[in-house]
Amino acid sequence: MHLNKIKYSNDLYVHIYIHIHNIKISNKQINFLLKTETFKIMEGRKVTGWAARDSSAILSPYSFHLRKTGPEDVLFKVLYCGVDHSDLHQLKNEIHFTTYPLVAGHEVVGEVMEVGSEVKKFNIGDIVGVGCIVGSCGECWCCKTNKEQYCSKMVFTYNAINNDGSFTQGGFSSAMVVHQNYVVNIPENLAPEQAAPLLCAGVTAFSPLKQFIKSDEVIRAGILGLGGVGHLGVLIAKAMGHHVTVISSSDKKKHEALTDLGADCFLVSSNHDEMEKSLNSLDYILDTIPVSHQLQTYLPLLKVEGKIFIVGAAPEPLQFGASGLILGKKTISGSFIGSIEETQEILDFWVEKGLKTMIEVVKMDYVNKAFERMVKNDVRYRFVLDVAGSDLE
Ligand SMILES: NC(=O)c1ccc[n+]([C@@H]2O[C@H](COP(=O)([O-])OP(=O)(O)OC[C@H]3O[C@@H](n4cnc5c(N)ncnc54)[C@H](OP(=O)(O)O)[C@@H]3O)[C@@H](O)[C@H]2O)c1
Ligand SMILES: [Zn+2]
Ligand SMILES: [Zn+2]
Repeated sequence: MHLNKIKYSNDLYVHIYIHIHNIKISNKQINFLLKTETFKIMEGRKVTGWAARDSSAILSPYSFHLRKTGPEDVLFKVLYCGVDHSDLHQLKNEIHFTTYPLVAGHEVVGEVMEVGSEVKKFNIGDIVGVGCIVGSCGECWCCKTNKEQYCSKMVFTYNAINNDGSFTQGGFSSAMVVHQNYVVNIPENLAPEQAAPLLCAGVTAFSPLKQFIKSDEVIRAGILGLGGVGHLGVLIAKAMGHHVTVISSSDKKKHEALTDLGADCFLVSSNHDEMEKSLNSLDYILDTIPVSHQLQTYLPLLKVEGKIFIVGAAPEPLQFGASGLILGKKTISGSFIGSIEETQEILDFWVEKGLKTMIEVVKMDYVNKAFERMVKNDVRYRFVLDVAGSDLE
């Protein structure tokens, strides 16, 4: 049976089962499996999402079944979902093997509809959020030290196999079922559409920058790439009291970066003179560029012992020369989202500092256009899908 021909929701579980156990199986046996309790038992509520069928990454309506709400699960209706460049990387099969049909979306805000018998943290009607991960082992060093996003058994919100064998699908969908440990509370005085980008982009910027929060000196920050993650990086760094320089590929966003976002300086990376004047000036750079680029263009901007945090998931290798690091004791570091604890922290930090995400709220039938505009660098600065307000069928 060709996988593209799969049309029933249970087929996906069968496919995953076959994949996990690496077994060869006939059509007759597949049909038998579809009728067995093993697969029926995993089936919960029928929902509609928007899925890509292949690496063309064109989304269209797709019906599937959620898993049943287990004792520690929260079932919520999706209200809003942010559109991240990582969604596009995954939908295009650029990061790791993508299983289609794929429903993306990992900046999800929803309203709780049902809770399992052992759920204590959430009640029906609560506004909650889910980011990039929906599972981890709970036992390893990463899990025990609140770094579960680095757990080797971490489960992505979509395009992954959950601990119960079900395939995860994301927030471009009418509802989701998620284990309570990976759900956060959206503060009462934060609008749900405002909260959505914080669940991935916001915590991605917050997690590496947090180490500078208590600095006595004024930290000089560089935000490389002013998109979804970058604009939140500017707002967070400013709220932490840093002196912020935006490093951008053109001058198109200069005015808004300096006025609307409150950045202190704006550099165009192709402007040799501007870059030259800023050599050895930054304590850190948050690098959000989503494509391959020459790190050695940016490393000279760092002071001695400066750090560059790579968060942009360029599918191709990045380039840098060893001497650029050695002469200056500079550090190249990666950073992946933040922990669940940090996700709650950024939501609270946002409210405490009275910050505002800059978003464009659109309906689901605009999602393909939204990705097209994201690739053209034509978004200020994050699309957020009004999922509950969209006709998903
Ligand atoms: N590590 C993590 O946990 C994590 C979390 C979220 C996202 N990500 C990754 O972070 C990256 C950014 O995500 P995003 O949602 O912020 O994307 P985005 O909204 O598309 O922003 C990326 C920005 O990078 C700059 N850029 C784009 N193409 C470029 C090019 N060819 N050369 C130089 N600069 C370019 C642009 O800023 P300018 O106009 O200022 O040049 C653009 O606005 C993606 O790769 C995403 O997968 C990683
Ligand atoms: Zn673990
Ligand atoms: Zn993301």
